[in-house]
Amino acid sequence: MLIPRPLETVDAEGELVLDRATTLSAPEELGGVLAWFQQALRPATGLALRESSSGTVVLRLDPDLGEEAYRLEVTEQGAVISGGAPAGVFYGCQSFLQLLPPAVYRKGLVAGQRWAIKAVTLTDAPRFGWRGVMLDVARHFLPKHDVLRFIDLMAVHRLNTLHWHLTEDQGWRIEIKRYPKLTEVGAWRPSSQVGAGPDAPEDGRPHGGFYTQDDVREIVAYAAERFVTVVPEIETPGHVQAALAAYPELGVHKKPLDVWTRWGIDANVLNLEESTVQFFLNVFDEVVDLFPSRYIGVGGDECPREQWESDPRTQERMKELGITREADLQTWFIRRLDDHLTAKGRRLFGWDEILEGELAPGATVASWRGMAGAVSAARRGHDVVSCPDDVVYLDYRQSDSPDEPIPVAIPLTLQDVYAFEPVPPQLSPEEARHVLGGQANIWTEHMDSPRTVDFFAYPRLCAVAEALWGPAERDFDDFSRRLEHHLTRLDALGVEYRPADGPKPWQKRPGVPGRPSSREERAAHIASLVENIT
Ligand code: ACM
Repeated sequence: MLIPRPLETVDAEGELVLDRATTLSAPEELGGVLAWFQQALRPATGLALRESSSGTVVLRLDPDLGEEAYRLEVTEQGAVISGGAPAGVFYGCQSFLQLLPPAVYRKGLVAGQRWAIKAVTLTDAPRFGWRGVMLDVARHFLPKHDVLRFIDLMAVHRLNTLHWHLTEDQGWRIEIKRYPKLTEVGAWRPSSQVGAGPDAPEDGRPHGGFYTQDDVREIVAYAAERFVTVVPEIETPGHVQAALAAYPELGVHKKPLDVWTRWGIDANVLNLEESTVQFFLNVFDEVVDLFPSRYIGVGGDECPREQWESDPRTQERMKELGITREADLQTWFIRRLDDHLTAKGRRLFGWDEILEGELAPGATVASWRGMAGAVSAARRGHDVVSCPDDVVYLDYRQSDSPDEPIPVAIPLTLQDVYAFEPVPPQLSPEEARHVLGGQANIWTEHMDSPRTVDFFAYPRLCAVAEALWGPAERDFDDFSRRLEHHLTRLDALGVEYRPADGPKPWQKRPGVPGRPSSREERAAHIASLVENIT
């Protein structure tokens, strides 16, 4: 009944009951996992499980297992949770929690509950090392508390990478000490469009928020304690209007602009003067200091080139740089960022548009316009994370019913998402090694509260988690049966997921127009976008 489904489950006779006599033991290297486990078990059970040298539940490292692999043996006498590294032990503990009654996830004492686990042995390991979610906190700010909760829910599903989309046209969400106006000005907008499509009306309600550097350090540390790596993304050279509102000198026209109040692709992009490059290198210096992640996101998607084409100074700049095509100007800029990040021992991570030019060898690509980017990146020897829009864009509607709130793009049902396969079939085994894994993307134009994020993310994120953890061959009916039970865990956790029979009345957005398109229209649109990928 676990999600993601463990590789191997062998049931046995009897059960283990947790009570006041139950103790835990773990070697010093597992002190962090042990503290987390004690904390996770305590509120609902009321059991302050003490440590003893021969615990009823033993956490241990087993060098024969992979870092994220674990083995969990439950007998009437006790349990042994072995992992190749602390991450594996942590996932074993997560599975142990799932084996307990779902009420274990409640945050207060559950009176009268027996805390029993049926005897079983699980042997488990993930298929991919990058099991991610991209969360856009720029279109709508998600308060710190809700980001921490989002990370907790990722960990329940053994997801390990939070690609944190922090800057956009509509908001800059991370404090940068050297450039305080990025958040003083760039974190706030006076209004937002409500509804999909270019003509959706604005609500006239101010919106905003940002994370201080202390908040960021807290989130990164909290995530690390749950074996989640936070990969930050600072968008360049498009999707930057909030930064331009704060520092107009970064723009092509250098004119005052507001933080954008509309959705879509914005024409206002960076100028690529040396001073602008330096500005972003300085921003990335602070970002690198805050985030230990090997990968640092620079964006790179959807950068219109019209302003560069029509601006005399940009044309002059291109001549200075010996560049003849605007596309190469973007490539030049991304290379500058790449050189800087590489010199600091990090890897540049960008959307698949960065494949339209030459890339530094270490650059890693997020393939979003279908799988074309994944094929191209892997063949060119670049690591890639698959996140095709027509499979794992969780802002897309969950059915074709008119009851779905904001019918963006095409329907992606639970079953569609469950079919996610990060490795394109065209790749040779050698090329396929470049596929690090995959991620779901949660764009929040139409998610203005944590409740709405829950609705769009769950239960589809459970399906993504299983697609990234488990083997390529999967059985949707089997998943559906386990999901029925899993939803009672999500209930205990307070997740406001979309019910199988459609949105509850308060989850609808009546009167808000959407712009659904057909699968064929969407495919044709995406095909036109990836023409320049080689
Ligand atoms: C994207 O969806 N623009 C990466």
